[in-house]
Amino acid sequence: MLPDSDRRETFRTEMDNFYMLFTRYLADRAKGQKLDWAKVKSPGPETIVPYAKLRRDEAAPPSDAQLLSKLAVLKLNGGLGTTMGCVGPKSAIEVRDGLTFLDLTVRQIEYLNTTCKVNVPLILMNSFNTDDETKRIVQKYMGHQLSILTFNQSRFPRIFKDSLLPCPKHPDEDPAVGNFYPPGHGDLFESLENSGLLDQLIAQGKEWIFVSNVDNLGATVDTKILHHLHTTGSEFVLEVTGKTRSDVKGGTLIEYDGQVQLLEIAQVPPEHVDDFKSIKKFQIFNTNNLWISLKAIKRILAEREMNMDVIVNVKTSKSGEKVIQLETAVAAAIRFFKSAHGINVPRSRFLPVKSTSDLFLITSDLYSLDHGQLVMNPQRLFGTIPIVKLGDHYKKVADYQARFKGRPRIIDLDHLTLSGNVYFGSDITLGGTVIIVASEGSRIDIPSGARLEDKVVTGNLRI
Ligand code: UTP
Repeated sequence: MLPDSDRRETFRTEMDNFYMLFTRYLADRAKGQKLDWAKVKSPGPETIVPYAKLRRDEAAPPSDAQLLSKLAVLKLNGGLGTTMGCVGPKSAIEVRDGLTFLDLTVRQIEYLNTTCKVNVPLILMNSFNTDDETKRIVQKYMGHQLSILTFNQSRFPRIFKDSLLPCPKHPDEDPAVGNFYPPGHGDLFESLENSGLLDQLIAQGKEWIFVSNVDNLGATVDTKILHHLHTTGSEFVLEVTGKTRSDVKGGTLIEYDGQVQLLEIAQVPPEHVDDFKSIKKFQIFNTNNLWISLKAIKRILAEREMNMDVIVNVKTSKSGEKVIQLETAVAAAIRFFKSAHGINVPRSRFLPVKSTSDLFLITSDLYSLDHGQLVMNPQRLFGTIPIVKLGDHYKKVADYQARFKGRPRIIDLDHLTLSGNVYFGSDITLGGTVIIVASEGSRIDIPSGARLEDKVVTGNLRI
């Protein structure tokens, strides 16, 4: 627990920042709809560089170790695992071989540090929801050859939708009441500075920070991208990847008034949502893997220019009233940085686990683990991922784990749909299109060793 004077100071800074966000929200409301769809352009080739065309200083290339010594890795760790039915930080969910997101991240960076003889620190941006538990968990890595630093993002007050008055009655109100919230990952910049870490990193000679969602196991340190940053002097690089029909809701990069910007679905006028989702017009989407110059963050904050678009998230309070939380998204900061652009990276750099369907994929034989990194099985043709739709019985991690034993073999699987109460034994092989539907109130048991290929199983049976 911080001393009282420090807590008061932190609270004051947070409220100043909240006030600025709130003022921008009011200004936006007064202006009405801001986005002029006619000005929205698909980004040109210089805005999105293909991964294969990344540049490297050929005349006097620095070594990987030289560049890595200027890098810090930051994982966005403010979110809870509630979507997958878990309590506590999402990073504490076991995802593969009994290892959590955090365990796998630690392994990845430890391996990088050992093989390249560097000391890249791992920084976790926690929220008041995840801080206590995360600090307890990271103690287990104390004997490891890795410096792990944590800091807390801001805690902002929700406001009543009608009156716009703050919901909390007191700064020290119990967070469990639900009147405070972490204001999205765009809060990273101010919180990094308020924690003192931004200055510390710059003083240590760090130049770049690599930011990603803690649940994206594909977001590993990539020295090819580091060389590109060094060579181009870009202050901000956002990794994007090719959109498929399952990613149509993801944010995309656009050119607007001659400037590169992030466009989120919530900003799109309703009559243009189908345009936004089109794979032809907007071919890529945001992975939320970002490489950012620390000095540029410092400069933009000092100039008070980090005025990111306000995301208005309307919720219902515990007492049933409509409340608003104002948030920002980190990738939206792209427009404040010099020579900012996107890099179109392979899909393997975007492996998020948002649901148990994703968990099913990464626990299967489609991937193997290599020092915390998931590597796709070379036997999988075309490197594509099967479409997996697991029904409500699988939503929570505990329910999923109760129904699947061991590692499913799915090298030849294209499509799996499971609905109803289906249990699998161990050593299962699935191929082609498999649909299993247990009727309401019944249960289907797929025995150990079963091989299902292009099969539809329905009804109420124990095979
Ligand atoms: P998001 O909440 O943007 O997306 O978090 P999500 O992971 O898809 O959310 P769920 O799983 O559907 O609920 C993206 C990353 O940003 C972190 C989360 O922990 C996650 O790693 N995050 C989000 C923060 O650190 N702070 C926030 O205020 C919000």
